[in-house]
Amino acid sequence: MRITIFGTGYVGLVTGACLAHSGNHVVCVDIDEDKIARLTRGEIPIYEPGLEQIVHESVASGRLRFTTDAADAVAHGTLQFIAVGTPPDEDGSADLKYVLKVAQTIGEHMNDYRLVITKSTVPVGTSDKVRAQLASAVAERGVDVEFDVASNPEFLKEGAAIDDFMKPDRVVVGVDNERAAEHLRALYAPFNRQHDRTIVMDIRSAELTKYAANVMLATKISLMNELSQVADRVDADIEQVRRAIGADHRIGYHFIYPGCGFGGSCFPKDVRALGQTAAELGYEAEIINSVERVNNRQKSVLFDKLRYHFGGDLTGKTIALWGLAFKPNTDDMREAPACTLMESLWAAGARVRAYDPEAMGETRRIYGERDDLTLCTDGETAATGADALVLVTEWHIFRTPDFDALAGLMNTPVLVDGRNIYKPSYVAQAGFAYYGIGRSAASGARTTLG
Ligand code: UDX
Repeated sequence: MRITIFGTGYVGLVTGACLAHSGNHVVCVDIDEDKIARLTRGEIPIYEPGLEQIVHESVASGRLRFTTDAADAVAHGTLQFIAVGTPPDEDGSADLKYVLKVAQTIGEHMNDYRLVITKSTVPVGTSDKVRAQLASAVAERGVDVEFDVASNPEFLKEGAAIDDFMKPDRVVVGVDNERAAEHLRALYAPFNRQHDRTIVMDIRSAELTKYAANVMLATKISLMNELSQVADRVDADIEQVRRAIGADHRIGYHFIYPGCGFGGSCFPKDVRALGQTAAELGYEAEIINSVERVNNRQKSVLFDKLRYHFGGDLTGKTIALWGLAFKPNTDDMREAPACTLMESLWAAGARVRAYDPEAMGETRRIYGERDDLTLCTDGETAATGADALVLVTEWHIFRTPDFDALAGLMNTPVLVDGRNIYKPSYVAQAGFAYYGIGRSAASGARTTLG
């Protein structure tokens, strides 16, 4: 099939590359000339395992190309995907100006049937706006061209996006006629394994599905984080609790890991946007709104534990951070707990030494050169001379350090485990004061802060 994708950000690029890889002819278009020039040279602007290889292979085979020429892009694809950004407005609702600009552009250039598919995460009702924008752009030209609109939200996880696209749990397709449904069923047929993964529904339900999935997952995490706060205060171990509740199939083991708060481009933004949508319709979404409040509070848990250990004064302390990205296998720092922690530490007069396998360039881009931030070549160097070490992001490389050697490198062996990846008794044997998340009984340390 002939496919055009507007937007070469995370979603657009992964979608374009994966669709080209399954035999389609794909054109990716973006208004950012520099980005398109870099992509054309084979440079991938984001870190995503496996992406570079399939982009290179697809470009070499002639099935994927990049352009800034909108007319060329609209002429190319029968299917036109909108995968541009929807940054949050000041009030948290998604800003649709880029999405509607693309709809306008498609309407200005299309000369025969086009199926216009929204992939960006957009509020319920956006496809109606896309349809209206297309219709007015076409009408202005005085031409008569048929088109359909569809919603096809993405459920990609950063760091596993290629796998998620190639082996989806489900493909959600929102349409209002059989012609559009058939196009999308055919497009996604190569990604069916064992059974048909495409779930066809009405457009508004498809739009809501994306938010519902993310809000459900974010709620699981916030609830677990809240339980970890209770566990800390009653001297229970949330990890023992987690294993026991996860065994109940109705609860399950996925997404119940307590930690230092969720970050990334999706959960915080989508939780906020759905709460905002409900509020605009006169409904106070109490659970959804508190998911974000709980998460914001959780992001200060690492700082609180450090402050507790050092008796409330972190002035002049050097704190080592392992991991900066909001989760492993990405260089993405958006809404990362590490940002909250570093900013609190600096405000308290502490210095930061940090290492992350991928996100140090991004950290430098955000914070620039500063005296109280040293980016180190590896985890051991970051820990050298530190008064405490904080595991913020559970990259594989941090899983089994030599704790005895580590204790020897540090000024004082204090470990705050923001993801509960270490065994408290094992760490304690090496002489560390250990603080986990909701594990005060197991760690032998009272971290209750009142
Ligand atoms: C998420 C959704 O999973 C994906 O389907 C959607 O398309 C985009 O948003 P992503 O933001 O890439 O994907 O990250 P994900 O792996 O879901 O993790 C989100 C955050 O939750 C991370 O900060 C992670 O550390 C945190 N998390 C996850 C927990 O704190 N505990 C858990 O049990 C799981």
